[in-house]
Amino acid sequence: MTIQWFPGHMAKARREVSEKLKFVDIVFELIDARLPLSSRNPMLDQIVQNKPRLILLNKSDLADLSQTNLWVNYFREQGQHVLALTAKDDKSVKQIVPASKKVLADKITRDKERGLKPRAIRAMVLGIPNVGKSTLLNHLAGKKVASTGNRPGVTKGQQWLRFGSQLELLDTPGILWPKFEDPSVGKKLALTGAIKDDLLHLDDLALYELEIFCRFYPEQLKERYKLTQDDLFMELPELLMLISEKRGFKEDYERASEMLILELRQGRLGRFTLDRFEEHND
Ligand code: G4P
Repeated sequence: MTIQWFPGHMAKARREVSEKLKFVDIVFELIDARLPLSSRNPMLDQIVQNKPRLILLNKSDLADLSQTNLWVNYFREQGQHVLALTAKDDKSVKQIVPASKKVLADKITRDKERGLKPRAIRAMVLGIPNVGKSTLLNHLAGKKVASTGNRPGVTKGQQWLRFGSQLELLDTPGILWPKFEDPSVGKKLALTGAIKDDLLHLDDLALYELEIFCRFYPEQLKERYKLTQDDLFMELPELLMLISEKRGFKEDYERASEMLILELRQGRLGRFTLDRFEEHND
């Protein structure tokens, strides 16, 4: 598999993000809770440097709860501030302001001691495509303001979005690219829709999905496709053939693969996490 990571794109995105950083107190780094490592930009530390940061593990409604808890602790132990989030959910999004105040506690106290009038926290949202940046901005602003798309930052006519009296956000998110030279990272990103799946063969992706679910979520797989325990001991291509047959696709494995990937993305196979905490931390 030859997936390229374009340094030119990265340099441009980096420049654009660096310019915006000057205007904000804090960065909200959005990552996909199902991919807490693979959906991070590896150069983010260099780009953000010492600007205060709150990591938002978004789409936590789709992720495996026990894995999310492990990852939250992992980031905390590294001294990072982190929140599991569902950008579509009001109650979840409301946690962002108190969490940001906690990150900026020292600055807020310093400003107070200097007699400065308290002002809204200024923030920007940063992350790779598809992690929910526009969804979060739209939700915070209560209207559709940020266009969804996969192109690195567009800065023209930049505005602040107000969220109550305590938070202001730059209306365009910083878009960074994932680094997917590692084939398994590429597969994980493609499965969740973060990179285009036409870069990979659909059946490769579907087989990878089956491998993960046989291993970590066998009950969810059995329930969705009416499989028996014995079925799960088959070789993966055979299992794909069986599911294809059960769904009436006969030998059209491409269609069966497409269906498997779509249903995974739609959450029909239940919650899952592809970056396994135990594999990265043994
Ligand atoms: P981006 O700006 O970072 O590229 O991501 P965007 O907000 O466009 O979100 C990508 C997809 O993820 C959207 O789905 C969006 O609805 C979904 N999403 C974002 N946050 C959450 C979340 O917390 N939970 C869940 N379950 N989904 C989330 P889509 O199918 O591409 O678009 P749409 O049909 O939902 O509009």
